[in-house]
Amino acid sequence: MSEKYYLTTPLYYVNSKPHIGHSYTNIAADALVRFQRLRLGREKVYFLTGTDEHGQKIDKAAQLAGKTPQEYTDAIAETFNQLWKTLNIADYDFIRTTQDRHVETVLAVWRRLNDNGQIYKAKYKGYYCVPDETFYTEDVVDAEKLCPDCRRPLEYIEEENYFLKMSDKRAWLIDVIKTNQMKVLPETRKNEVLGFLENNELQDLCISRPKKRLAWGIQSPISPEHVTYVWFDALINYITAAGYGSNLDRFVKWWQDKDTIKIHIIGKDILRHHAVLWPIILKSLSQDLDPISLPTTIFAHGWWVQGGEKMSKSRGNVIDPVEIVKTYGVDPYRYFLLREVPFGQDGTFSEEALIDRFNHDLANDLGNLLHRSLTMCEKYFGGEVPLVSKWDEKLKSLCEELPKKLNDSMNRLAFEEALAEIWQVIGVANKYIETSAPWTLSKEGKTEELKQVIATLMETLYAVATAVWPFIPSTGDAIWKQLGVLTSIDSSTPQERAWGHFNKGGKVAKGLPLFPRIEVEKK
Ligand code: MSP
Repeated sequence: MSEKYYLTTPLYYVNSKPHIGHSYTNIAADALVRFQRLRLGREKVYFLTGTDEHGQKIDKAAQLAGKTPQEYTDAIAETFNQLWKTLNIADYDFIRTTQDRHVETVLAVWRRLNDNGQIYKAKYKGYYCVPDETFYTEDVVDAEKLCPDCRRPLEYIEEENYFLKMSDKRAWLIDVIKTNQMKVLPETRKNEVLGFLENNELQDLCISRPKKRLAWGIQSPISPEHVTYVWFDALINYITAAGYGSNLDRFVKWWQDKDTIKIHIIGKDILRHHAVLWPIILKSLSQDLDPISLPTTIFAHGWWVQGGEKMSKSRGNVIDPVEIVKTYGVDPYRYFLLREVPFGQDGTFSEEALIDRFNHDLANDLGNLLHRSLTMCEKYFGGEVPLVSKWDEKLKSLCEELPKKLNDSMNRLAFEEALAEIWQVIGVANKYIETSAPWTLSKEGKTEELKQVIATLMETLYAVATAVWPFIPSTGDAIWKQLGVLTSIDSSTPQERAWGHFNKGGKVAKGLPLFPRIEVEKK
């Protein structure tokens, strides 16, 4: 088998409609999905997103809305699905933890863990944070009884539950992370997880809830009185979709095969669930002759903050992505999120900053380059792209080197770096217009040189369009269209995208400027 990707986002809780923070992960994942599909072929990238629908938090939200949990989750899951369509997220598999395929897999996991001797029943005493759906033992909770993580009030719980053995896997996990058998990125997050593992004993994980207190969960197959703990249920989704327990060929292809690069893109608040619980669940499911493989990479991005605090429904400081794209368009929004902040760090969302990026990068740099170049092609050659065999060497080599550079940045999920590389080429092309001064060449009758300049600009735009496409797909498509290309980027091959391929003597089809400047009233 050959190189392929399995890319996932977290499953979003359906206790409220999506905000900017949720859309961030899907837009980033989408850029990577599109980039790799373009490079390797569509069938080489499997993209999974979805919703996390069980647990106390959802149960409470449904009660408040006066609906059954299933009615409630059906409606909100659809809001997420619709948002991904609005944001132009490429084809994905949408998993919901209430789907049969998932319920079946969770049952299979319970049984296998039980057969493997990895779970036991015991009395649970401790605290629970409902908004985070996370357990805390007495020793880590202070006198105020607030969640050590989000500082919201905890619930005290004393009940019989099932536990997954975790403590005996600490040394193994440290080794797996240290040696990058499972990469945790960025490096600071890797150190954070290793620090946690090296300084703390691992508590066994409580994987059930008594049904009499919370019925909204997947029924345990080994105890009629218990349902599955929501985080345990949710993490399993990554192997449900890959076919664990239901389709062995599929499971081998998307999970077990060593050529499959499995990347979980998550936010930093759910790092420990993914980098500690999840590999331990997989290890516990394994048998000596049948080890289950680990994710290749877990990448934890930062938060969008507002007023210094993480944007979240419960803090009441959320911004609705649907409103933002209505005002500014989908691509400017996608561009802003991926360009403004290095992936991994926190960022402050503001419309002023978005407008700045819009006017500067999209309108001035990219939009002008396209519009000016096409205008000159029309003016000097009636829109016919001149056929040449020699181009500006600098721009040609910059464009030829671009895919390799982008590959390097994208392998590190450094989206802002990739965009900066593309904008460097755009900057050089804009300067090239000034230094080569086509208007002077025209006046002086230097037709061959003029042809070279225009053809170079057209080829550069052709390359820039394919480079920006994973990030701002409608823009990439619109540039090709204005260049008069009749095929789509999506279905193009690397050979068709190479320098010189465009120059077949077609006619451009200039349209309206892609990004008309946003004028902000000065106070
Ligand atoms: N349901 C769990 C994930 C289970 S995955 C098997 C969950 N859901 S969530 O809806 O609360 O959060 C989903 C993702 O959105 C997380 O990765 C979280 O980091 C991200 N974001 C939520 N608010 C965010 C910001 N303000 N900024 C950036 N991302 C944030 O956790």
